[in-house]
Amino acid sequence: MSYKSIKIGKHKIKIPIVQGGMGVGISWDKLAGNVSKEGGLGVISTVGTGYYKDKKYIHKEINGRPYEAENFYSKNALKQIFKNARKICHDAPLGANVLYAINNYGNVIRDTCEAGADIIITGAGLPTNMPEFTEGYPDVALVPIVSSAKALKIICKRWTKRYNRLPDAVIVEGPLSGGHQGFTYEQCFDESYKLENLITPILEEIKNWGDFPLIAAGGIWDKGDIERFLSLGCSGVQMGTRFIGTYECDADKKFKEVLFGAKEKDIKLFKSPVGYPARGVKTNLFNLIEKKEAPKIKCISNCVSPCHRGVEAKEVGYCIADRLSDAFRGNVEEGLFFTGTNGYRLDREISVKELMDKLVNGEDS
Ligand SMILES: Cc1cc2nc3c(=O)[nH]c(=O)nc-3n(C[C@H](O)[C@H](O)[C@H](O)COP(=O)(O)O)c2cc1C
Repeated sequence: MSYKSIKIGKHKIKIPIVQGGMGVGISWDKLAGNVSKEGGLGVISTVGTGYYKDKKYIHKEINGRPYEAENFYSKNALKQIFKNARKICHDAPLGANVLYAINNYGNVIRDTCEAGADIIITGAGLPTNMPEFTEGYPDVALVPIVSSAKALKIICKRWTKRYNRLPDAVIVEGPLSGGHQGFTYEQCFDESYKLENLITPILEEIKNWGDFPLIAAGGIWDKGDIERFLSLGCSGVQMGTRFIGTYECDADKKFKEVLFGAKEKDIKLFKSPVGYPARGVKTNLFNLIEKKEAPKIKCISNCVSPCHRGVEAKEVGYCIADRLSDAFRGNVEEGLFFTGTNGYRLDREISVKELMDKLVNGEDS
């Protein structure tokens, strides 16, 4: 099967493969720029940009941590990330991922438009007011991530009523994905929430509103998987984990090595201060948490609102901003290494170009 390009708003993506936004620091300029250059949609993660280039763009840090939300997220760093990604992909469509749960969502969406994103993807919450923040940027396509037809219905209803607008595409993320899940722990293992079973009701819901593409995410690994979801009626796929095993992935080499060394049984769902289960590698961090020897929770960066200024972090035993940024910087002992269920299948680095070739032409290409 040869793939068809996908149109998201005004933007044509030649190969219907979206590289999922991965924070903190896993998909910045190099990864996203190269995926877009190779004909997919590269997606820049906007969370924790204060850590970009060793915190060069921030105004204040305490104990080596960006101070407060306005430094954890840096607008100047985001602009620089876009500038550098554009040097790689030029005018190919380039996306950004903005978590709904972050503490300054509206401002980050505005900055992302200003920085030159063509497509903005939002998950981790229901972005019922997303279009409000993109005023003045009519060409920026808006794409929510949902885990059910019901969530899509709520978004379409609100957006139509308030903004006279529909999503330009929608991503459905099933429970095999990396990082935070849109499900309870039990639902993640329940057959009825399998990605394959979420597709048809969402396609039906789309028909109630108009016609925009559906993109499937979570546990998609190779050409065979992609073809399976296209034949179910999806127009494209979003993949995260597999892009971690590329030279261009922006994380420290040690992040990738943690995944290369992980076995299937090491990949687990953990409690997170964000309130949803999150999938990652069971590393030494979890022994430290159990022994109450994990790094102290100080809530210096005030990153996500559902954590209630560290209250939830204390509940689960770790600070999500500190642990994810440590993983990005290669701190194997104390980092939190997010991955999808397929992470154990990564065994070496290849280039984005090689990976895209495999996804389009098959593994032996
Ligand atoms: C290390 C890592 C970090 C992630 N961070 C984010 C994020 O910041 N925002 C988001 O919407 N999704 C995030 N995700 C989810 C991915 O964008 C993607 O949708 C998902 O991982 C797809 O499943 P796969 O990894 O099995 O391909 C993350 C995933 C990983 C592995």
